[in-house]
Amino acid sequence: MMQRTTRWRILFVLSAIAWISMISGCGGAKQSLISDGSLTAIRLPPPRTQGGMPLMEALKERKSERDFSPTPLPDQVLSNLLWAGFGINRPESGRRTAPSAMNWQETDIYVFTEKGAYLYDAKENVLLPVAAGDHRAETGSMIQPFVKKAPVNLVYVVDAAKTGMMGKIALSTADRDMFSDTAVGFISQNVYLYCTSEGLSTVVRGMVDREAVRSRLQLRPEQRVILAQSVGYPADQEAKPAPELKQLSDGKYPGEAQYEDLVYRVSVEIKNHRIDQVEIVDIGSDEYRDEAAAIARSVVSRQQMDVDAVSGATPASRAVLKAVEDALAKAAKSR
Ligand SMILES: Cc1cc2nc3c(=O)[nH]c(=O)nc-3n(C[C@H](O)[C@H](O)[C@H](O)COP(=O)(O)O)c2cc1C
Repeated sequence: MMQRTTRWRILFVLSAIAWISMISGCGGAKQSLISDGSLTAIRLPPPRTQGGMPLMEALKERKSERDFSPTPLPDQVLSNLLWAGFGINRPESGRRTAPSAMNWQETDIYVFTEKGAYLYDAKENVLLPVAAGDHRAETGSMIQPFVKKAPVNLVYVVDAAKTGMMGKIALSTADRDMFSDTAVGFISQNVYLYCTSEGLSTVVRGMVDREAVRSRLQLRPEQRVILAQSVGYPADQEAKPAPELKQLSDGKYPGEAQYEDLVYRVSVEIKNHRIDQVEIVDIGSDEYRDEAAAIARSVVSRQQMDVDAVSGATPASRAVLKAVEDALAKAAKSR
């Protein structure tokens, strides 16, 4: 039988290692950034952390999709997406939306767009410029040409420099890498669920040109490229921001439309020439409530209310879109 004092000593040493590990694991070396002006940082708007599809519905709908519209994602959607993936959800402790072993937070998300490659800084909610130019194809493989069409390709890179003393001394490299690989899986699933909720297409990919990405991002030997994830609007839903939005004044506008014997009523809020909110006021029957809420979210995320652009829209969701159009017509008249 191990003596009580010996057990306490072992416990003390283990917790000291864990504590030191947590402190020393917070670091990680700095990424070299572009400073010649060829690519500038993007300060993202604060993420919208409320609403969205009910969780069980999102799980029911989650899937991989590989057809993308080239339409860029608005900064608001990018901010929400990255926050959902691995943003800070407890500012008082700096902890994140996805778990990591011993809170190492060793995963960095790089965002490849048409303009360049950026590093997501969750604390500042900023995309830091890493490489100018369109390098999206490098995040995929030759046999998956959809990658270079997707407006956003996220690349998940883990940094062993952030795994602290515990990661380096007390764990085997295989165990430590397994912990980090697993952490990436959680982030990817968060991204899947956000995309499902917002009507975006996404697919996580192991097929990544790792050498090309390593060299493009000038990664250190301790950093490993794990997975990539393409994100964008579905190919059949070209989401062009409606030009007439620029003509609308800020305010809340009621809209309505008739479907069979039901009247659909919505309230649309315009802020800074964007559709900020679509509230379903009344649709006469609970039967289509979830569908109506989903279409309302889709209008806000895509800034698009062209009824014909929404493939597969049921008559009920078309009625919601018609009601939104009615509200926007009132907003246009109020100028
Ligand atoms: C670790 C991992 C690697 C994957 N790599 C690729 C990939 O390189 N290319 C791709 O098109 N899909 C990739 N996928 C997506 C799977 O093909 C997809 O999840 C699977 O077919 C099941 O489909 P579902 O996600 O719609 O359920 C990957 C998924 C995982 C979990």
